[in-house]
Amino acid sequence: MRNKITLIAHGGAGGINYPHRRRIGLKEAVRVGYEILRQSGSSLDAVEKAAIILEDTSIFNAGTGSYLNLAGEVEMDASIMTSELRFGAVGVIRDVKNPISIARMVMEKTDHLLLCGENATRFARMMGAGYHNPKTKEKEIIWKRKKKKILSNYFEKIFDFTNHYGTIGVVAIDKSGIISVATSSGGINLRLPGRVGDTPIIGAGTYANSTAGVSTTGHGEEIMRQILAFRAVALMNRMSAKQAGRNVIAHATKSGCRCGLIGIKKDSGILYVSNTQAMSWCYIKNGTMRSF
Ligand code: GLY
Repeated sequence: MRNKITLIAHGGAGGINYPHRRRIGLKEAVRVGYEILRQSGSSLDAVEKAAIILEDTSIFNAGTGSYLNLAGEVEMDASIMTSELRFGAVGVIRDVKNPISIARMVMEKTDHLLLCGENATRFARMMGAGYHNPKTKEKEIIWKRKKKKILSNYFEKIFDFTNHYGTIGVVAIDKSGIISVATSSGGINLRLPGRVGDTPIIGAGTYANSTAGVSTTGHGEEIMRQILAFRAVALMNRMSAKQAGRNVIAHATKSGCRCGLIGIKKDSGILYVSNTQAMSWCYIKNGTMRSF
C-alpha cells in the first residue's frame, strides 16, 4: 500500500522575530523536502535536505546563525532518526556547515549514536566536511548586548535568556511509510561552553517509531527531563496526533517546561503545538501547504 506523503517543519518556539524571513525559509525547506517525497524519495533524504535549507538560512538558531555560547563561540547539536529506530547525533560540534548531515553520517557510517565536542568535528573532517564558520554578525550583536546584562548572577539570569532558544526540526513520511525526523540547534544564547541540549538526545529532541515521529523545540534542560519527543510518540501509539499533542503540552506546562513540538502519525494526522509565545511551522499535507 502506498502511504500518503506528508512533511512538516518548525523554526523554533519562543518569540518569533523576523516572521517574514522565517516564513520564507520554512516554505522553501518544506517545498524542497516534499518534492523529494513526491518523486518517491525517502523521508530520510527529505528531512535532511529540508533541515540543511533551514540550517543555511541564517535566520534560525541552527547551523549558520546559531546563538553564541558565553565565550562567544558557536557550538551546535543535531540528530536524525527513522521509524526503523536508526539514530545518529552530534553534540557541541563546531565549524561545520550542516550538523544534520554529520548526524546522518554518525547513523550510517558508525556503530555509535552520538559523537560530541572536538571529536565530533574531527569525525566530520574525516568524512570530508570542510571548515565553515557559522557565526553571523546578527547573532554576535545579540550576544554582545545580552552579555552585558549577565555578568553577575549568571545562573539566575541565564534562565531569562532561555527565550533565546530555538531549533529547527523536520518530520516526514514517505510512500513506503517510513517516518524520519531531523532536529538541529545552536542551543541557548549565552549557555556555558560544552553544554549539550535536548536536540541530540534520543527521545528528548527527536524520536520516531513505526507509528509516529516527533521533533521538539524549547528549553532543552526541561525537554530532557520530560523526554518530550518519546512521550509524544508513545501517546500517539494510543490516541490521535492532536490529542497526544494536547496531553503532552498540558503536562509540560504544568511542569514549567517551555516547549513546542511537531509530529506525524502514520495513517493519521500531524501535530504542531507549543506553550510558548509562538512557534513558527509549515507543512504540506495532501498537496496543500500551510504555515504559521
Ligand atoms: N532546544 C534547544 C536547546 O535547548 O538546546
